[in-house]
Amino acid sequence: MSKILYISSEAFPLIKTGGLGDVAGSLPTALLKKSQDVRLVLPAYPEVLKKIKKSKIRGEASYYNMPVKIIETKLPGSNVTVWLVDCPAVFNRPGGPYTDEHGQAWNDNALRFAIFCRAAVDLSLNKLRLRWQPDIVHCNDWQTGLIPALLSLHSQRPATIFTIHNLAYQGVFDQQTFSDLHLPEKLWHMNGLEFYGQLSFIKGGLVYADRITTVSPSYALEILEPEQGYGLNGLLKERSKYLSGILNGIDDKYWNPGTDSYLKQKYNRHSLSKKILNKTDLQEELLLPSDTSIPMIGMVSRLVEQKGLDIILESLPTLLNMPIQFVILGMGETHYEIQLSEWAQRHPDRLKVIVGYNESLAHRIEAASDIYMMPSIFEPCGLNQLYSLRYGNLPIVTNVGGLADTVIDASEENIDNGAANGFVLKEHSSASLLTTVQRAITVYQKPKIWRQLQINAMSKDYSWSISADNYITLYQRALREHKSI
Ligand code: ADP
Ligand code: GLC
Repeated sequence: MSKILYISSEAFPLIKTGGLGDVAGSLPTALLKKSQDVRLVLPAYPEVLKKIKKSKIRGEASYYNMPVKIIETKLPGSNVTVWLVDCPAVFNRPGGPYTDEHGQAWNDNALRFAIFCRAAVDLSLNKLRLRWQPDIVHCNDWQTGLIPALLSLHSQRPATIFTIHNLAYQGVFDQQTFSDLHLPEKLWHMNGLEFYGQLSFIKGGLVYADRITTVSPSYALEILEPEQGYGLNGLLKERSKYLSGILNGIDDKYWNPGTDSYLKQKYNRHSLSKKILNKTDLQEELLLPSDTSIPMIGMVSRLVEQKGLDIILESLPTLLNMPIQFVILGMGETHYEIQLSEWAQRHPDRLKVIVGYNESLAHRIEAASDIYMMPSIFEPCGLNQLYSLRYGNLPIVTNVGGLADTVIDASEENIDNGAANGFVLKEHSSASLLTTVQRAITVYQKPKIWRQLQINAMSKDYSWSISADNYITLYQRALREHKSI
């Protein structure tokens, strides 16, 4: 059994903006089930404080002259102990974890997450008198990047793991910020936190962690190349011996069509005929024509370039002349929100766009749709295609990252050999997207084959169990390597 301190800037159900929230909410629970002693560290955002029930103050500290309390609670619905870094001066404000109400990044994000990292470092070294010393410190994304860097300066430190959920977000700030944060001069060099004259939080993880992981095997290879490496591919290549990809899992407690409390009509692969009631229900709710035979395409997503919105927008004129209903739930960049909403106003019978964040609707769209739209430019893992597979909602995806690792194209050969579970674009273009949607519609009109594909999709085990085992093996390896230094 290892003692694992798992550190993330979001974790479902306390706070979530995307897939990182899902992962940080479910991997610690899976590790606990496998008898690991795991604690989760999160910032105490107001939304989090509102959701917790029992809590007690376990420690106090001060960083940059700001008082910080460590609040202990449990992750709702689990037995995972959570330590909240409560620094009201930087975390207690309306808006999101990273941005204000208008989607603008908080201008003190470097300070906010430096405080978070410094608290996590003290927890890692058992300096806050919580009487618990981890063997493993597992960090996630740039918000936690300073932790491996600062820990590297201590000889008696736990082993460190850094997981890249998305290399496109790096936490880069100007050089002045490095001085303002009083970071040790020792860390300011090309092979340290410096990134072309700027301070890079993510480099702290990539350079100093004992082991680096990312969330799918394919993405672990893609980030070694310039296109997906965002200037860090050279460094990652140098460290590739310590880099591996472990696929995300899904939390069966929340994402299971047989028990999903958001669904009026629950179903599983043995009662697939009931799935359609979710579609008629959603058609009624969204004022779409009631029609069971028309394929419904769903999408639940951050509305950002990564998710392939440009080729979707380019395809819409043709797509909306096809016999489909398209339902999009999302929020993100304003220009996408506006353009999609305008298209929806012009085609109320074909396209519904719901701008906002809505957990219940996200589940209901997965259950109602026949086809799921996810033509991402890149996708480190992607959880929505996994949810879609689990819900018998066949994904249309690009051949990248975690999408390539989980979706098997409905080619004739794959249909015949029983492997097919979705549709893969030949290339990332609107032409390819349209051909693929057309292909999906054609297969949809062959109910027997469609049903078989749904069963293929729903039969696979996407739970965390296997991936959690892979993390445990990696922790043990990191510990062995670390001890032998
Ligand atoms: P990413 O982390 O890049 O956003 P993922 O597919 O890994 O992509 O995970 C996205 C998660 O966020 C899923 O759980 C998805 O259901 C959820 N999500 C995204 N946008 C919304 C939204 N507008 N409302 C509800 N859930 C959303
Ligand atoms: C990131 C990625 C997504 C991944 C998620 C959780 O947000 O964009 O592909 O599934 O992290 O690891």
